[in-house]
Amino acid sequence: MTSGVTQPTDIREVAVIGLGLMGSGIAELVARSGRRVSAIEVDRSFLDQGMARLHASLDRAVSRGKLTDTARDEVLARIRPTDNVAAGVGGADLVIEAIPERMELKRALFARLDEACRADAILATNTSSLSITEIAGGTRYPARVAGLHFFNPAPVMKLVEVISTVLTAPETAGTLTRLSADLGKTPVAVTDRAGFIVNALLLPYLNHAIHLLETAQATREDIDKAATVGLGLPMGPLTLLDLIGLDTCLAVLETLQDEFGGTRYVHAPLLRKLCDARLFGRKSGRGFYDYRRQSPAADHGPSPVPGEVALIRERNGRLDELAGQIAAVGISVVPQPSGQTGLVIVAADPRHRVLDAALAAGHPADVVGVHFVEVGDGKPGLAELVLPDVTAAGTAAKAAALAARIGLNAVISRDRPGFLLEALAYAQFNDAVRMFQDGYASPADIDTAMMLGCGYPRGPFQMLDEAGAANVVSVLDAMHAATGDPAFTPVPLLAEYATAGSRFRAGTGG
Ligand code: CAA
Repeated sequence: MTSGVTQPTDIREVAVIGLGLMGSGIAELVARSGRRVSAIEVDRSFLDQGMARLHASLDRAVSRGKLTDTARDEVLARIRPTDNVAAGVGGADLVIEAIPERMELKRALFARLDEACRADAILATNTSSLSITEIAGGTRYPARVAGLHFFNPAPVMKLVEVISTVLTAPETAGTLTRLSADLGKTPVAVTDRAGFIVNALLLPYLNHAIHLLETAQATREDIDKAATVGLGLPMGPLTLLDLIGLDTCLAVLETLQDEFGGTRYVHAPLLRKLCDARLFGRKSGRGFYDYRRQSPAADHGPSPVPGEVALIRERNGRLDELAGQIAAVGISVVPQPSGQTGLVIVAADPRHRVLDAALAAGHPADVVGVHFVEVGDGKPGLAELVLPDVTAAGTAAKAAALAARIGLNAVISRDRPGFLLEALAYAQFNDAVRMFQDGYASPADIDTAMMLGCGYPRGPFQMLDEAGAANVVSVLDAMHAATGDPAFTPVPLLAEYATAGSRFRAGTGG
């Protein structure tokens, strides 16, 4: 490259090394922008698989009317697959490395790139977990090394994290930022810290979901449903783990744990077990879900909808509406349990145990707590049906049958503070505030990153502002008190905003 500011148009030839899930997506994206691409994969069978994935993705775009046949052929003509690294990178203005997440492999590759690339080529890594500073440190010209982190599926997700090390030249980061925009992405510039923005927030949340599953807080389907229906996320955490790949998720958690310590990043034992069993998720056919065959619909047997339901109304006005919905399907609703009552419903609050209300109601074995989560936008909300461990075995089935009869979008959770939705979301909000408190990224950048990198309809700070900092703090306090886990202690800045009644995204309308 000549001196002065490098424009995206100066990046005409790009080498992508590693044609796994991410590499093939990145190669497709770059070729669709009109640039020539060397698609490099040293393993011949991985090269063939990567190219097959790329072909399939382009064919899908054609079948959806997003690309013409001619355009697809032109894109393919710009891609040169090869298993020869030196030949593939020789003419590249930019190299994007997307090989497996092992430091020794990356260091060896970057040392080779030093020799094989033009001296003015930019060397970018798509690593999702490793230290870019360490990768760059093994090269002769670390000023031209930076991170360029895409999100899965790379052709679809709009975010790119552009990561500078202390050694990266500002021009290198500037060129990558302009190039990302030219590829149709939104770049967010950050420094080299484990997990950058997105993975540092996403992975502990995903890990927490595994923890909820392995401690029998809820079924995998209900954990996923809490996130999709309750938070409006495009995928539930267990489905997303399967999409990203469980081995990748484990590697990112290990890096986060090494860098930050504490309890929040300690991987759930089940994650390690699934990896040991080589059940890596979608790419290996099975992870939390089985992708090799259609799962049979769960058979819960006949639904024992009770004839009489006691509804103990306290401070929660939403239970009045619920009483109307139950009565409308012909089930009698009484204010206190009688001998005929099959189910006792109390209002549940994620800060308090339902158990206490269950004992007060006098029929603890039949009690279910209901907590409604309003999602706004006119969409139906989520009802968390919360069961203390002292409830009878059949109570969950009765509650689920009732929910189905009256058309409630419900999930069933054990009686632990935070239930499902607040447990997952509020712990992530706390992590987001910690990141802001550390001075790593602003609330606006964090929200943008989560929305464009993971398809969140609103960023964590917008959701936190809607929930109210004081409310989030009190649920976290209850989670901390119940588990003893310091990861749930509200970070000082969150506690400060709660006390002051302040919003993080002032002026954004929430
Ligand atoms: N490759 C290319 N295009 C794809 C694709 C793929 N693998 N998967 C889906 N698409 C395209 C479809 O063709 C479709 O395109 P059009 O709208 O142009 O027709 C579009 O994406 C939507 O696809 P679908 O309708 O089939 O499916 P959907 O609406 O359920 O969306 C999704 C699928 C985009 C993956 C969505 O579920 C989503 O946003 N999920 C969250 C994904 C996420 O969080 N990714 C980040 C993971 S973290 C990471 O990657 C970083 C790391 O380092 C670990």
